[in-house]
Amino acid sequence: MDYDKLIQSALNEVQASSSSENLEKVRVKYFGKNGLFTKELKSLSTLSTEQKKVVGVKLNDFKNDFFSKLSIKKDEIENYEINKKLEEDFVDPSLPAREKNFINSKIHPISHTMNEITSILGNMGLVYEEGPDIEDDFHNFTALNIPKDHPARQMHDTFYLDSIEDKYVLRTHTSPVQIRSLKKKKLPLRIFAPGRTYRCDSDITHTPMFHQVEGLVVDEGITFSNLKWFLESFCKIFFKKDNLKLRFRPSYFPFTEPSAEVDINYKKVSGKITFGEGNQWMEILGCGMVHPEVFKMSNIKTNATGFAFGMGIERLAMLKYGMPDLRDFFDNDLKWLEHYGFSFFEKSDLSWR
Ligand code: PHE
Repeated sequence: MDYDKLIQSALNEVQASSSSENLEKVRVKYFGKNGLFTKELKSLSTLSTEQKKVVGVKLNDFKNDFFSKLSIKKDEIENYEINKKLEEDFVDPSLPAREKNFINSKIHPISHTMNEITSILGNMGLVYEEGPDIEDDFHNFTALNIPKDHPARQMHDTFYLDSIEDKYVLRTHTSPVQIRSLKKKKLPLRIFAPGRTYRCDSDITHTPMFHQVEGLVVDEGITFSNLKWFLESFCKIFFKKDNLKLRFRPSYFPFTEPSAEVDINYKKVSGKITFGEGNQWMEILGCGMVHPEVFKMSNIKTNATGFAFGMGIERLAMLKYGMPDLRDFFDNDLKWLEHYGFSFFEKSDLSWR
């Protein structure tokens, strides 16, 4: 057997390989299970001691040489293949962003505040829900324990949509989402529902369209103290004031009993308002324990209890970011947006503490 010729051709084939598959084929051809040299190595035992010494050393030396050249070639090929892939998939990260668009556009304070509220309530374990802007009379009123001719209906300055019978309205609050969630979901229930609401009212503190966020938590053993803790935690995080005080004032909503309105403390020094200090109070939301009638109207028979709350998003935004006039929110005044809007690149402070 002419080993030298075979050895030379094996090494040449390693050198000439240009892909991983090719290289693997060469390895199998010479050192696979039935490889040319595998067979030779196996048959060494049939040789005489003299021959074994010569041929054995030669073959073993070659084997080592073969595998070290194979491994060098393998690295070479892999490097080449990776570089080729990188070149093909090349992205130039140093290209400038479309700077002009980013600088000119701002996130509207309502969107920003909604994002903040969504992030905080989400972290507190509530799940996002939504309901329609065009609501039927049942969900907006009746199911919330506000039957026809109830005086609370007058309080709502409702837009009635006569064109679609008289049973449809533009929802006057986000509370109908309470009913929709109770009707479709199993207990326990922990949801929040931000969105648009409408009332036929317009002055410095009212716009016909505004935003609310509703919260509803129903489970066995839920009490008013859970509600207090929840709202206190939310407000401290939202206003970033650990010492913020909340005052719960008895109030009336047909769909909660007992009901309360919640104020936060502030002080005003030369026109500047600071929250969490001083002993003046500002109302920020309505809340209470879910009225049994609400469960009944949603076809829920349960021993569970629940709390609900509703807050005005514009109001929260105005207080947190010091915006003086509600109507500016919807004027599409670019100068106002430029001033009060939020940059896309602004560091987010939405994280849960
Ligand atoms: N829906 C009420 C409002 O618009 C707020 C509220 C929600 C009160 C939930 C109690 C519970 O004024």
